[in-house]
Amino acid sequence: MNLPRTIAVMGGSYGNLAALAACLADATQLQAETKAFIGDSIGCCGHSNEVVDMIRQGFDLFVAGNHEQQAVLGSTSCGCGYSSAEDEMISCEAFELATAGLSEDSKAFLATWPDSQIVELAGGRILLCHGSPGYTSEFLYEAELDDLRLEAWLDHYNVAGFVCTHSGLPFVRHLASGRFAVNCGVVGKPDHDGDPAVHYTYLDLSAPNGSIIEIRRVAYDHQSWARTMESAGISPVFVEPVRTGVWTTGVASLPASERFRYLRAAPHRTSHTARPAVTPELLDPSAWRFTLSHFEAFGLINQAEIEEALSLLDPSFPFFAAMRVADSLHLHIKVDDVGRLPHERILALGVTPENARPGYIKYPFPGGINMIFSSIPVAEEDQLPDVPPPSKPCVDHFGIDLRREIGLVRALFEDTPAVARRAGWPTKSQGGGGRLVYCCHATVAEKYWVYPPSTGSRCRREGSRCSYARRE
Ligand SMILES: [Fe+2]
Repeated sequence: MNLPRTIAVMGGSYGNLAALAACLADATQLQAETKAFIGDSIGCCGHSNEVVDMIRQGFDLFVAGNHEQQAVLGSTSCGCGYSSAEDEMISCEAFELATAGLSEDSKAFLATWPDSQIVELAGGRILLCHGSPGYTSEFLYEAELDDLRLEAWLDHYNVAGFVCTHSGLPFVRHLASGRFAVNCGVVGKPDHDGDPAVHYTYLDLSAPNGSIIEIRRVAYDHQSWARTMESAGISPVFVEPVRTGVWTTGVASLPASERFRYLRAAPHRTSHTARPAVTPELLDPSAWRFTLSHFEAFGLINQAEIEEALSLLDPSFPFFAAMRVADSLHLHIKVDDVGRLPHERILALGVTPENARPGYIKYPFPGGINMIFSSIPVAEEDQLPDVPPPSKPCVDHFGIDLRREIGLVRALFEDTPAVARRAGWPTKSQGGGGRLVYCCHATVAEKYWVYPPSTGSRCRREGSRCSYARRE
């Protein structure tokens, strides 16, 4: 029996007909002898019956993904296995779109797909699976691969390698044993690298000059497909990644190292060459300078404190990723008497104070900078008899306000202790698990306090004053 030598493996079309057609054409042009589709045919692009028909006609082998399994069960969740609750919620919206018009005939075809299968190729046996060889909904990310686990799976199935999909991020892992693990990426959406091109894998294990294990990167008319999605009434949250190559959902569930893939240098990126902006989404440094210079003129902050505030926008600040998505920064300034602040001159800057009460006032300024003044105790140390009170006015702390309840913001907040540990900053948490934190001006769900250490940090505090060494 003549075994096929070459195989094209694709997954995750999510109803993207244009991208799937382009990948099929690419595989045909490479003369792939076998074509396998390894799950998640339907999804956020709608067009479910059309894509199922295209797959039925275009492929020889099939493996079910979580989308097929859940659709056959009549579930309302895609069963993706996201760790972020927000990602899970949006994926359910996508799944509703995917299953709304799915015909009984399509469903019956999807029900025939096995959970995995082994293909005999000239050159070796390979396992085709969806998430991982062990679990349909497991996300295998290159940054987190455990080679011993991969080898154990290959031993278990007695194969030379496996190909999976599901995560949307392609990789090829060559193992010490000479075997391999491949994630073929997905054909329905880009890999969050800022390029709208999509991916599949092409294998030839008995090529004359050694095995070919290739991630194929396929550009297609993504703009036209994005318009097709829009005219079908599909929500912008699902259209945008098709246009930009940057995900709008699923990001919080990625390992931290993969969340900002689109900021990495990508030599293959052809659709745009400009470096994406790394400036904060909601904060405006020039507005900060304007506000801070006035408070310096009022004698309420000094130059070193201004520099410290601006240094939080420097990429070398360990919590810079949080600053990029923060709603605002607040400077909490201790004064001897809030009643003696130059209120009239502050109001002349066009600001409306909030939460004014004896001993406390907040001035929210444009560009996401809030000036808070208090003469009431704000921390336990204010009540310690042995700690000499600082000379006032002085900045007690800077607050990074992460208020948007979206997955990426929550993920960055939750990363705080780990980031602090790596940077050598002590941390203290407050609230969480339903215990609210009652601050002097607001109630928040949860807070982390982080403290620049006296050594190993560019921030130096002496008495009530700080200085911040600039990066040379
Ligand atoms: Fe999947």
